Amino acid sequence: MLFRFVTAFLLLGCGLSDAILRVELSAAQRAKLSDPASLANKKLDNRVVNGFDTPLGQAPYQISLQSMYNEHMCGGAIVGERHVVTAAHCVYGYNPIYLRVATGTVRWQQPDAKYFVEEYWVHCNYNSPDYNNDIAVIRLNDSIVWNDYTKPIALPTEPLANNTKVLLTGWGSTEYMGDTPDVLQQASLTYVNYTVCQEEMGGDIRNGVGHMCTLTHEGQGACHGDSGGPLVANGYLYGLVNWGYPCAVGFPDSHAYVYYYRDWILRTMSGPCKNCHCYASNYGV
Ligand SMILES: *[C@@H]1O[C@H](CO)[C@@H](O)[C@H](O)[C@H]1NC(C)=O
Ligand SMILES: *[C@@H]1O[C@H](CO)[C@@H](O)[C@H](O)[C@H]1NC(C)=O
Ligand SMILES: *[C@@H]1O[C@H](CO)[C@@H](O)[C@H](O)[C@H]1NC(C)=O
Repeated sequence: MLFRFVTAFLLLGCGLSDAILRVELSAAQRAKLSDPASLANKKLDNRVVNGFDTPLGQAPYQISLQSMYNEHMCGGAIVGERHVVTAAHCVYGYNPIYLRVATGTVRWQQPDAKYFVEEYWVHCNYNSPDYNNDIAVIRLNDSIVWNDYTKPIALPTEPLANNTKVLLTGWGSTEYMGDTPDVLQQASLTYVNYTVCQEEMGGDIRNGVGHMCTLTHEGQGACHGDSGGPLVANGYLYGLVNWGYPCAVGFPDSHAYVYYYRDWILRTMSGPCKNCHCYASNYGV
């Protein structure tokens, strides 16, 4: 279901919770790996080889998107009293009745609260072109109750400067082929802008201006995250985990750039908007 239109593959051996689209390297990218000047081969002082446990309350916007059978499926972020954003491939094709949003916790199995999904909207150009516009807005059937562990995160009003540190949080595997951790993991990553990212990725056509790239390396970054999981800088939600190359290499990972989708998110949240989406969970409006 997740991969109806894409040729990506999941890391084998990982459960749903490790869901992050993996794309294969092009010939040019493989050649680049032998270039010692490539960032993929550079030692970065900010790398986090292993993720760290996240203290309760540090990422109060984090949600665990779950099935009605209490399985963790994806990450996401609270952006309003009734609204959550996640990756489109996390919800696409699911009946909203099947979905739950768990909040206020660093332990996905022990949520502070769980909400039902009333409806969701997938971006109109999801996966068109391939791997682009992988973003969705979820509307809950009840208002989220705020507390110290449950708070919304603001949408960015300014683009992010190259080389800014961003915090990735997720319940994705902490190691290649590893299990889903109980406690929310985090990693500090470095944002690289579109120009720099395309240079590093060797002009990958799957990467567009609606993406946000973070540097990663073996065992780091989105290896730890899961699809839909939030990337935050300066108190703003800047990204949602979309896809990456296999963990073992070191090319940047690519996420939905929330700054780019700000207007779409706001219009989708403010009510029925015929031009905002091509796929709504109720197939109507
Ligand atoms: C939300 O949906 C659930 C399941 O259908 C229902 O039990 C609950 O009463 C609903 N809440 C509201 C506020 O409508
Ligand atoms: C952008 O940031 C990256 C990562 O720190 C750095 O290697 C690169 O030189 C920067 N590029 C520009 C043009 O500032
Ligand atoms: C990326 O950052 C570099 C250095 O700050 C800048 O020269 C370049 O214009 C930026 N590119 C984009 C797409 O913002």
